[in-house]
Amino acid sequence: MDWKPNRADKKPIYKQIADYIEQGISSGIFSPDSVLPSERVLANELQVNRSTVVAAYEELQSLGIVERKKGSGTRISTDIWGISHKRIPNWGRYVEDGSFLPNLPLVQRIRTEIQKNDLINLASGELAPQLFLTDQFRAILSDQPFMGHLGYDHPQGNEALRETISLHVKEYKNIDTNPSSILITSGAQQALHLIVQCLLKPGDAVAIEDPSYCFSLPIFQSAGLRTFPLPVDEHGINPDDLISMHKKHRIRMVFLNPDYQNPTGTVLSLARRKRILELSAEFGIPIIEDDPYSLTSFDGSVNSTLKSMDDNGNVLYISSLSKIVASGLRIGWVIGPPQVIQRLADAKQQVDFGHSIFPQWIASEFLGSKRFSNHILMLRKELKRQRNEMVSSLEELLGDQMEFFVPEGGIHMWCKLNAPIPEYHLLEESMKKGVAFVPGSIFGSKKGYVRFTFGRGETHLIRDGVLRFADALKIIQFN
Ligand SMILES: Cc1ncc(COP(=O)(O)O)c(C=O)c1O
Repeated sequence: MDWKPNRADKKPIYKQIADYIEQGISSGIFSPDSVLPSERVLANELQVNRSTVVAAYEELQSLGIVERKKGSGTRISTDIWGISHKRIPNWGRYVEDGSFLPNLPLVQRIRTEIQKNDLINLASGELAPQLFLTDQFRAILSDQPFMGHLGYDHPQGNEALRETISLHVKEYKNIDTNPSSILITSGAQQALHLIVQCLLKPGDAVAIEDPSYCFSLPIFQSAGLRTFPLPVDEHGINPDDLISMHKKHRIRMVFLNPDYQNPTGTVLSLARRKRILELSAEFGIPIIEDDPYSLTSFDGSVNSTLKSMDDNGNVLYISSLSKIVASGLRIGWVIGPPQVIQRLADAKQQVDFGHSIFPQWIASEFLGSKRFSNHILMLRKELKRQRNEMVSSLEELLGDQMEFFVPEGGIHMWCKLNAPIPEYHLLEESMKKGVAFVPGSIFGSKKGYVRFTFGRGETHLIRDGVLRFADALKIIQFN
């Protein structure tokens, strides 16, 4: 407890303590049913007499805010709603009851550890800081005058950026589209969220990859969808699985990340892409093609997107600049039939009145210039170097302990531990050693896997990170 009573205050110290605890309940520091420190411990901590703490606890008891029982100490009452003369909301219950689910505790734990401690970060799904183009963005900001309008923009996003994206996807992904079929979103994440909220309803069955992108899972759950897993092998999902699944569950939508899939790094084969499109047309099931990674292919060949092969308008295509330019720009987009795009844009207007004009402006300037094509060549080279560094480190330090798939693009590496290891203990031990990764079970049903994000690893730290992981693994194995 950082707080201490103020001895200069006229208010008696026991009253200050009682007020502090009461205020702490309303601000969420103390939650209902939690146990307060014993009288002796609190007296020591606050450097007051034990009798002062007793008086404070008795005061709170008389207000019904705490319950005191011999042997089990002093507890905040479970139902303080309306008992206190100040009507303190039960924030704990509010926090638990909201319909939008929180991240998994383990995801939260990794995030706080990374923020708090100086770990080698092989967990966050983004590019390493050295790959961000700070200088180039600075040049755009200083060379090009901003001529945009500062009011609320078009609900589908800035027209110039949508025009640039339509040219970009034609050039790089052979997708024919136009600005009225594009919605700008806050990353691919918001695109997924809007699609789920606007086009599906609770109880709908959706097919997802197993394993799949972990931050999509709570979105599906919060929306009350029933998710059915399609196992991913080294060529992606098997279309035959979709047939049997649809017959059983009447699948309403399929979510796929066909290129350098997160977390496995696999690519959906061309034959399977074609078959999935046929099935989508036969059953009338829309496909959500989530494609943040296809331009990272190390040899520069970009696979045919489902969208570019979609003659029937069955595919909603999502992409973003997060994995190829900068995740902090928060620029993503959805391409689909105008009717769908307008529905999503209407929802986006309710959520945030559209994306901020400045990232849209910079993204349009960058994506529409020669800078982008030069950048993507550099990025592929660097990511390949990072992938190679990760592969050689894993082979050398852990070759007999894990198997892994070597991806030809993307930023993730999916590794299977040869012996059954409690992944969570391994994570805790690794973080103690100074490296973070993501345990595989977060992504789906597979146990005994770990995901390393080589794209996030600064090249000189990748080997060190793997070394620390190997040390942690040794400790877990010998315990
Ligand atoms: C498959 C996939 N989809 C969507 C996203 C969300 O990315 P963003 O919102 O940053 O574009 C990610 C991020 O890791 C991802 O891997």
